[in-house]
Amino acid sequence: MQSRFKLIQYFTATSLVAFGFVAVTLVYFQMRQSDFFKSVQTEEIRSSQETHGKLISNAEQVARRDLLSIHENGNVNLTRLFSNALWASDFAPFVDKTSAIDFERCRSMGNAVDSHGATVAGPEKKACFQAQGELIRALPQFAALDARVRASMRGSSVFKIKVYDLKGITIYSTEHAQIGDDKSGSPGWIGAALHGKAVSELTFRDKFSALQGVVENRDLIASYLPVIEPGTERVVGVFELYSDVTPFLQQIKATSQAFQKTADENQQRASLQAENNQEQVDHSSRTQLLVLALLLTLLYVVLLVIVRRAQRVIEKQAQESDTNKQRLAQAEKMTTLGQMVAGVAHQLNTPLAFSKSNVFMAIQSLDTMVPTIEAASRVLEKEIAGDPDITQPTRLDGRDFAARLGDIPGEARMAQEMLGDVLMGLDQMNELVNNLRNFTRLDRARTAAVDLNSTLSSVVYIAKSVISTKVRVVEAFEDLPPLECNVSQLNQVFLNLIVNAAQSIRGAGTITVTTSSDRERICVAILDTGSGIPDDVLPRIFDPYFTTKPAGEGTGLGLAIAKDIVVEHGGEIVVDTQVGVGTRFRIYLPLQAAR
Ligand SMILES: Nc1ncnc2c1ncn2[C@@H]1O[C@H](COP(=O)(O)OP(=O)(O)O)[C@@H](O)[C@H]1O
Ligand SMILES: [Mg+2]
Repeated sequence: MQSRFKLIQYFTATSLVAFGFVAVTLVYFQMRQSDFFKSVQTEEIRSSQETHGKLISNAEQVARRDLLSIHENGNVNLTRLFSNALWASDFAPFVDKTSAIDFERCRSMGNAVDSHGATVAGPEKKACFQAQGELIRALPQFAALDARVRASMRGSSVFKIKVYDLKGITIYSTEHAQIGDDKSGSPGWIGAALHGKAVSELTFRDKFSALQGVVENRDLIASYLPVIEPGTERVVGVFELYSDVTPFLQQIKATSQAFQKTADENQQRASLQAENNQEQVDHSSRTQLLVLALLLTLLYVVLLVIVRRAQRVIEKQAQESDTNKQRLAQAEKMTTLGQMVAGVAHQLNTPLAFSKSNVFMAIQSLDTMVPTIEAASRVLEKEIAGDPDITQPTRLDGRDFAARLGDIPGEARMAQEMLGDVLMGLDQMNELVNNLRNFTRLDRARTAAVDLNSTLSSVVYIAKSVISTKVRVVEAFEDLPPLECNVSQLNQVFLNLIVNAAQSIRGAGTITVTTSSDRERICVAILDTGSGIPDDVLPRIFDPYFTTKPAGEGTGLGLAIAKDIVVEHGGEIVVDTQVGVGTRFRIYLPLQAAR
């Protein structure tokens, strides 16, 4: 049987590959979707975090700015009060006195560069200003002025006061060591003294010597404020006030922190929500995949059921077709056998007929010999007994006795010859019967190792009984290795090819049967000098029921069956033909049949 298409295996393999592909694609897209969702959420959280951060820092900055401007306003007012109260009476005369002290000399001294790369006063210059400052402190009005300033500041939020003249020299400071410092380069002093503007800044000091003594970790607002001569628009000096805003700043910071806390809480909530969402999305993805996998499996099972049914139907059909083929082969065989029986009967008839007549003639001649031999034996008996009354018959059955006696040896030899011929006839019949038995080895095992040459000889012998005597059959056999095969089937193939060959020969001709082999296969060739096969017929000769012969002579099944049998033996049939010249069929049979 030929190997069948493995429908279920192929179906399973391709389905698995297809399902695998679908699954991988789906998982991939689900993962991408999940990643995308995750990144969107992360981005959302990040941007809201950033917005919150900006908002909080903006709010803090605005609060600081407001704090600064409120305090600056307060300081401006304070300065106005202060200058009204103290300037004309105390500071103006004091400034007059200090202007006599020469600071220009110090200013012209050399500068130095500090560790940050900034230009600062050199040590000599510093010492010079310091010395001049001491001169200011030494002025007789200084102590009274200092006392008044301190008295008027008591109980306020002002930490420190400095006063600069219009040249930038610190002519007064509640921190005495700073008196004499040159501030003409400071932007605060420049803004207030030269442009008449209040300039404030917020600073943090870890140590600060205030009016009340040294304080630690304070947030301070330092304001440079122009002192306007009362009743005029004229700037006459610069005040610098330090006020403590630590509690306000703490308030601002606390508010910011509260904001931040709320923002952080929101953030945390959002993160939790995002995680939750992600979990839900992933869960629904997984459910989707699961449902899909179930659907695919269901689909596979349904298809498998269909495919299995199909496979069964196909197998049944194949089996039916196998049985049909076997039936056809049997029918074709019967047809050929029918033809052969007639031929064989004819072949048997000839030796049978002449054997019968020979035997008959031998009996007849023995019949004529018997009376003569009997008479002769009687005379011989008397003579041996010494009987004097010997009367030799002179005539027997009307013929001369002596002549009859002389004929006997010749007649006996003739009878002997005739019986010899009968024996030959019997031998011929024996050979025919033997070959027939060889040919119809159906009862034997289905496959056996045989010598194809002897098989072919029998087939040729049998075939001769149906082949015209004008057709010569030549056997050209090479020694062959034994072939494992179904002999009875191969006989049918060879017989059909030889009979086809004989049928293609009109009148006289030759059929040559040759065998040969190499290490892999045996080749049996049947060559005829017949009509050849026309081009339009050649492609169809192996089709079942295709015949060019009149009904009764051909069934059209011979070559179809022959091909099946040869293919089942793992071999092949090759035809080459030329119209008007003849045809050669070659059958190749592998020695190691791949069944
Ligand atoms: N040796 C041959 N020479 C010419 N024609 C042939 C030969 N063998 C087969 N054919 C052609 O192939 C046809 C099919 O052969 P086959 O199947 O044996 O059926 P059938 O002999 O019953 O016609 C024949 O009818 C004949 O036309
Ligand atoms: Mg035929």
